[in-house]
Amino acid sequence: MSGESMTLRALHGRRALITGAGSGIGASIADAYAAAGARLFLADRDEESLDIVRERLERNGTTVSTVVVDVADRDRTRAMVEQCVSDLGGVDVLVNSAGTVTESPFVEMEVDMWEQMIAVDLTSVFLCCRWAAPHMVKQGAGRIINIASQLGIKGGVGLVHYSAAKAGVIGLTKALAREMAPHGVLVNAIAPGPIETPLLGGVDTGWKEAMRAALPLGRFGYVEEVSPTAVLLASDPGGNLYVGQVLGPNSGDVMP
Ligand SMILES: NC(=O)c1ccc[n+]([C@@H]2O[C@H](COP(=O)([O-])OP(=O)(O)OC[C@H]3O[C@@H](n4cnc5c(N)ncnc54)[C@H](O)[C@@H]3O)[C@@H](O)[C@H]2O)c1
Repeated sequence: MSGESMTLRALHGRRALITGAGSGIGASIADAYAAAGARLFLADRDEESLDIVRERLERNGTTVSTVVVDVADRDRTRAMVEQCVSDLGGVDVLVNSAGTVTESPFVEMEVDMWEQMIAVDLTSVFLCCRWAAPHMVKQGAGRIINIASQLGIKGGVGLVHYSAAKAGVIGLTKALAREMAPHGVLVNAIAPGPIETPLLGGVDTGWKEAMRAALPLGRFGYVEEVSPTAVLLASDPGGNLYVGQVLGPNSGDVMP
């Protein structure tokens, strides 16, 4: 087999559940996983965007199941994982990409805004891992990839809630990685820098310009520059030695 076809089939037959797959990084990971031969179960709360991604993938010959779900909902996420296991026969890879961002100066931040952020960007990751991990332990193999953010490492102004949620995702990833590795389940995070997706649409323009200027690379990233990292972490042997790592496609913003 040539090097190119080995790369193309890196995830051949793997059963991958991807949340936030309707847009941005999650949709790009769905495309990259499909190209690598994975079987997909895609979740998002936005039915319309999920349908667009599914139709695009099906046109290219990939079999895709989808479910509309709020990842902050404990019962719906449990049902989502069970449906994935029932449709695909198991779950080999879980990618937690669903997330939102809002902004507020800390002294004006409503408690509701904090609670909403923790629910959607942190508790959701706990829930999806919580329901998927037992299946992976039973299989004796699995990969979990959590999409954090470099702001979970360095913090962001007006983003105390988001930074705390993403730091929580990183802590959860490391602890879960230690507990799961003996069972053959490898857990890692990707902490991107600013990436051109709809998520940044609502972020202050001045912040974006200052951020761009401060980046060693001088530019934001594109989703196609993040998804290959998710392929690597899910692949065998490429991802076999990554345990509790936080990989940073971030234009040089954070250098751990
Ligand atoms: N874009 C960036 O600059 C950047 C940087 C670092 C980290 N991230 C993280 O990457 C992940 C993906 O972000 P993106 O940039 O692709 O954003 P995006 O807005 O393009 O995609 C996010 C997707 O998540 C879905 N979603 C949001 N809340 C949900 C919920 N409660 N239940 C189910 N689905 C939900 C949205 O409908 C959307 O399809 C997020 O976790 C985000 O925090 C993004």
